[in-house]
Amino acid sequence: MDLDELLNLKTPPKKGDLTDEDIARLFFKYKGLLKKIERDEAFWVATNEHITIAYSKLDKQKNELQEAQELLVRKEKLAIVGLLASSLSHELRNPLGIISNTAYLLQMELKDADEIIKKHIDLLQKEVDRSVDIITEILTFAKVKKLKLVESDLNKILEDVLKYIDVPENISIENQLDPNLPHFQLDEEQVFRAFLNIISNSLQALEDEGKIVLKTSKIENFVVINITDNGVGIPEEILDKIFEPLFTTKSRGIGLGLAIVKEIVDLHNGFIEVESEVGKETTFTIRFPIDVHLDGK
Ligand SMILES: Nc1ncnc2c1ncn2[C@@H]1O[C@H](COP(=O)(O)OP(=O)(O)OP(=O)(O)O)[C@@H](O)[C@H]1O
Ligand SMILES: [Mg+2]
Repeated sequence: MDLDELLNLKTPPKKGDLTDEDIARLFFKYKGLLKKIERDEAFWVATNEHITIAYSKLDKQKNELQEAQELLVRKEKLAIVGLLASSLSHELRNPLGIISNTAYLLQMELKDADEIIKKHIDLLQKEVDRSVDIITEILTFAKVKKLKLVESDLNKILEDVLKYIDVPENISIENQLDPNLPHFQLDEEQVFRAFLNIISNSLQALEDEGKIVLKTSKIENFVVINITDNGVGIPEEILDKIFEPLFTTKSRGIGLGLAIVKEIVDLHNGFIEVESEVGKETTFTIRFPIDVHLDGK
């Protein structure tokens, strides 16, 4: 019997049907098949590994693409907000100036008027002042572009912010500033603004007996700043939105504070992170590279 005949038998051969030669043929065929299966198995294992690697590469590229897209959207949003806001703000400055002057005149002319009228004129003046503050914030936001770097003492910038802010008496501030912090290149005005925004948010988040802790340290090639408050905290579902321009949960907020902070930190090639537990505390951590490379910024 040749091999094909042997393999095509419908029923197993009986004892004595097969010659020694047939058995030898079957044996070698069997061995050959085993070898092939082993080879095929190795091939499929290797293919499987390639597919897994390709998948994880694809996944990584997908994430990178998504991050790049988000960055692009953010930059576009920032640019549009900046453009719109600055032209709008310029237009509003004059009428607001006129309202402010008129309120002042009314205040002078109506010194003996009813308390209720005086209260309303006061309110008018306060709201105009607030509008001017908003405009100033928007205009400065639109201007965050180029850095003016100078060798700076970051602890001093933080201390200056504290002097600038009116910290209410029921709020305590704890400084844990590293006295040996190296001086390094920063845009002092912008970094001042960034800290002012973060600390203002902390103050707004605090209730009765609040506390803010300011900590600085040098970790490897970074100066690290932690700003912690024991205020209301930030719910997890909005943690990734708070740095977006115009995101706010406050009835009287514009949502530019942290967008400005992020822009300033990015310009310094630094990093900003936030951790928060609702009802307990919030910590903003900023890392500035001591040896800043601006890549043409
Ligand atoms: N320390 C904090 N504790 C709790 N929530 C915070 C804190 N800091 C920021 N947030 C949340 O992040 C949001 C965005 O903050 P951001 O400073 O950008 O805008 P804003 O304070 O609402 O308005 P503004 O433009 O006046 O600063 C806030 O509305 C608030 O919900
Ligand atoms: Mg704010």
